[in-house]
Amino acid sequence: MLEVNHLSKDYLTPQGPLRILSDISLALSRGQAAAVMGPSGSGKSTLLHILGALDFPTAGTVTLDGRNPFQLRERELAAFRNKDVGFVFQGHCLLPQCSVIENVLTPTLVAKRNGDAAARARSLLEQVGLAERLHHRPAELSGGEKQRVALARAMVMKPLLLLCDEPTGNLDRDSAEVVASLLLELHRKQETILIVVTHSAELAARFPVRFNLVGRRLE
Ligand SMILES: Nc1ncnc2c1ncn2[C@@H]1O[C@H](COP(=O)(O)OP(=O)(O)OP(=O)(O)O)[C@@H](O)[C@H]1O
Ligand SMILES: [Mg+2]
Repeated sequence: MLEVNHLSKDYLTPQGPLRILSDISLALSRGQAAAVMGPSGSGKSTLLHILGALDFPTAGTVTLDGRNPFQLRERELAAFRNKDVGFVFQGHCLLPQCSVIENVLTPTLVAKRNGDAAARARSLLEQVGLAERLHHRPAELSGGEKQRVALARAMVMKPLLLLCDEPTGNLDRDSAEVVASLLLELHRKQETILIVVTHSAELAARFPVRFNLVGRRLE
């Protein structure tokens, strides 16, 4: 279960603290999927980064299955980010010098016990329709294919929480549809908690839970 209570975020600027998020609370259980919408600059990426423990809140708490990542020691926090959270970034952030399969395997290199990581990576890439692209570099892929690699990479550690920041933002309608369907299918199979930030009302409509981030608050 993901629980967020009274979360606020200020960025410190030379002009003083700049409030981005204010008093945000939400709760999602295992298997639930939510979409977050809101205008550009409303703090969607900021919120997602905090939920994934990539940034820290100014106030409030975040717990995933009872653990507050911001109370963990550095080593445990690194393990939390690596194992418990899958992140698909706004702009896929693949390593350009690595092949598709190597990109998907990166999170498993950090973890000590990774079982049969290579088989799992291959299976995920098959599920997202990229079995024939394992040895391509990101520059040799289409935009939708890159997003599908990013999705496979985010899922390879079987995270409890999958966070996707505009995973279909730069795609045409058909590719966006393919990526969105794959995302929801992987989510259902793995029983992750899924949160997707999107500007697409069409994509948001496919999610049972929908939030709007407006005026620093979640509605
Ligand atoms: N490190 C930072 N320091 C100061 N202000 C920041 C910082 N990072 C982001 N901001 C500001 O916080 C606000 C929210 O940014 P964020 O990236 O979360 O928006 P967003 O909702 O994801 O927008 P978009 O839809 O364009 O991706 C913006 O106004 C941005 O200028
Ligand atoms: Mg953003």
